Amino acid sequence: MAKNLKIGLFGFGCVGQGLYHVLKNSKGFKADIVKIAVKNKTKQRPLDKSVFTFDKYEILDNPEIDVIVELIDDAAEAFNIVSYALSKGKHVVTANKKMVAQHLQELFDLQHKNNVSLLYEASSCGSIPIIRTLEEYFDNEQVEKLSGIFNGTTNYILTKTISEKLSYADALKQAQEKGFAESDPTNDVEGFDAKYKAIILALHAFGVFAKPEEVLNIGITTLHTNDITYANEKNYKIKLVPTVKKLNDNQVSIFVLPKYVNADNHLYSVDNEFNGVIVDGEFSGEQFLKGKGAGGHPTGAAVLSDISALSYGYKYEYKKQHQNPDLEFTNDVFIKIYFRYNRLIDLEKLNFEEITERYSGGNYNYVVGYVALENIINNKDYILKNNLFVALVGEEIQQTLKNGKSENKKVSLSINA
Ligand SMILES: NC(=O)c1ccc[n+]([C@@H]2O[C@H](COP(=O)([O-])OP(=O)(O)OC[C@H]3O[C@@H](n4cnc5c(N)ncnc54)[C@H](OP(=O)(O)O)[C@@H]3O)[C@@H](O)[C@H]2O)c1
Repeated sequence: MAKNLKIGLFGFGCVGQGLYHVLKNSKGFKADIVKIAVKNKTKQRPLDKSVFTFDKYEILDNPEIDVIVELIDDAAEAFNIVSYALSKGKHVVTANKKMVAQHLQELFDLQHKNNVSLLYEASSCGSIPIIRTLEEYFDNEQVEKLSGIFNGTTNYILTKTISEKLSYADALKQAQEKGFAESDPTNDVEGFDAKYKAIILALHAFGVFAKPEEVLNIGITTLHTNDITYANEKNYKIKLVPTVKKLNDNQVSIFVLPKYVNADNHLYSVDNEFNGVIVDGEFSGEQFLKGKGAGGHPTGAAVLSDISALSYGYKYEYKKQHQNPDLEFTNDVFIKIYFRYNRLIDLEKLNFEEITERYSGGNYNYVVGYVALENIINNKDYILKNNLFVALVGEEIQQTLKNGKSENKKVSLSINA
């Protein structure tokens, strides 16, 4: 009989303990967690003291350990651990989206250089098996677009503010009480978490390497009752939606913005802490996956699936990267947005190309129309500082092709919600 896989685990918090329970209850797959590295020396632990260590090298340099599982909440230290392990020829599983998104190219190179496998299904949308779906099912079909709800905390807040009329502050408090939101929710509510996941998925869906600092993320912190009233009047819901869209054979655009979605959109019915991903294949059309995007057990289940895959030698092949080596990330697009503003100067800053709807009355002013994504990027701080609200509306992205010195040629590309 083959010997059980020996695991060295980093972190025994929400996901680490979730993995422990899921592994213990697994009927088909057996592995032993031989050592667990944690940080706080005074914390009470639910397992015998002898299994814990505070010295990372006790795990990293242990030749008996086959697989490193990294589940800590510190992205910088996670990268130290993961890059050291890969350099030493160890296979690694991680759930850390920030670390993976920030070091995607380095981690890709380290895997090839050392002929080892790094799996990170749990980093993107918790229990939804999206990375392996892209890697295996869509390995030879071009993906046209990927979008979804990648963050359970914001989706919970948006569901409660829109459907149950809770205030933003009360909805956030409830999310924190239920354990969906951290005490510092910045990463979630400002759209950073969703952006990290979009960047990871963009590599597997399209083969493009994007850097977090290049990709726009605007979250839900400036949402106002008037924006919710607008949604209710039009029978929309508001969701925080990362969009990754192939524009042509050479370019992919990625951004994270709130979006008004109607009942025809798969995401309309993804409520509370649930996540959903829509993959639009060139020939297969839309596929929709919905599931739990966070939580110890769902995320632990995704980690276990990766550990099990390692036991039969599984590696990401990054086929899209090999098929489209020249594909580049771009922000050179126009998008259709709803923009709530205070003063005319706010409107001037965004310099709309075309306005299709406008309202101005008392303390509430908005326009709907096309604007260059670059103009939103350049004014992101201004938008947030002045409590203005931007949300995608409608289903179109228009690409600008720079033609000669100053002429712009617009190509209309339909984008399904
Ligand atoms: N929670 C979720 O639902 C979820 C979903 C998807 C992905 N993730 C990702 O999974 C990872 C873990 O999240 P979590 O929610 O489980 O975090 P958590 O509950 O805060 O637990 C973090 C664990 O990491 C340990 N730790 C921190 N720094 C360490 C260090 N330098 N060396 C060794 N151990 C260290 C902590 O040790 P102490 O016990 O000593 O404090 C703790 O056990 C994060 O990258 C997160 O983004 C989480």
